[in-house]
Amino acid sequence: MIEETVKNIEAKAIEEIESVSNLEALEAFRVKYLGRKAQINDLMKNLKQASPEERPKIGAQANVLRNQLEEIIAKKKTILEEQDFALRVKADAQDVTLPANKIVRGKKHPITQVLEEMIAIFKELGYIPVEGPDVETDYYNFEALNIPKHHPSREMQATFYVKEGELLLRTHTSPVQIRVLKSQKPPLAIIAPGRVYRCDADVTHSPVFHQVEGLIVDKKGKVSFTDLKGTLTEFLHRFFGKNKRVRFRPSFFPFTEPSAEVDVECIICDGAGCRLCKDSGWIEILGAGMIDPNVLEAVGLDPELYSGFAFGIGVERLAMLKFGIDDIRLFFTNDLRFLKQF
Ligand code: DAH
Repeated sequence: MIEETVKNIEAKAIEEIESVSNLEALEAFRVKYLGRKAQINDLMKNLKQASPEERPKIGAQANVLRNQLEEIIAKKKTILEEQDFALRVKADAQDVTLPANKIVRGKKHPITQVLEEMIAIFKELGYIPVEGPDVETDYYNFEALNIPKHHPSREMQATFYVKEGELLLRTHTSPVQIRVLKSQKPPLAIIAPGRVYRCDADVTHSPVFHQVEGLIVDKKGKVSFTDLKGTLTEFLHRFFGKNKRVRFRPSFFPFTEPSAEVDVECIICDGAGCRLCKDSGWIEILGAGMIDPNVLEAVGLDPELYSGFAFGIGVERLAMLKFGIDDIRLFFTNDLRFLKQF
């Protein structure tokens, strides 16, 4: 009778454990077979009614059953915990064979590259870089550079005014000459790289562009036009290489006398003529000259005692010639397909 009950409980437990598929269900199973209200406890109650000889036998059988149930539960627990772990590992898994995200490296803008190269060359030639403000007064940008109000040469440089007739966006880097000459004593040799602004735009003109100004002043007779020509030729040779053709042309600027302009042969058409060089075969890249005595006087230097030369180089023009670019606007539209090439 007891044996039969034990067998029944055992058989039912073995059958039921099969369908236990998670740890929660296993706990319910444990409560059912080993908890306070479990059938196995009834066996023990029967113990009282049994004869003294029967008692140890019943007790032993109940213990065997209890041990067996505990073993079944422990085994199942191990299996379920392993399953659980495997599931979590699978859910958290990363596919290490997927291609990684590309790290896109930034590069220096071609104009920055050219500016840095220009500055490096002029440093080698003994020039010290200085800076001036983008917003200038009429005095520094025009007046002190021998360009009086209503003078026709103001029209050479269509101006963006911040305050009509007083404050403006500098149209060239030449005002830095005045700032330097007012604050430093010759002998001096400086370059002033920076942004300049003019109210025009086409394939060779942008409303914002860059110049590198150069200025050297010493006791009269120490620097001549020959030095000017030699300095600029040396710079161009270092920048473009020795086989690029350049030419000096007489020109006019209010702040230099005599004045010159320098052209480099057009690399787009090799001198045959195209839209970049306006069919001339040459591209103008800089203006230069011996400092006009009026400019020296404006900064309080006696033209009888001091002289020097100055130049202003168009950075975008140099970059176009160096890289073979035929539209200046490409530098400022920030098209990555263009910028990535440098
Ligand atoms: N400032 C002139 C321009 O932007 C360029 C220039 C010409 C600068 C002659 C100079 C110079 O220093 O001597 O057109």
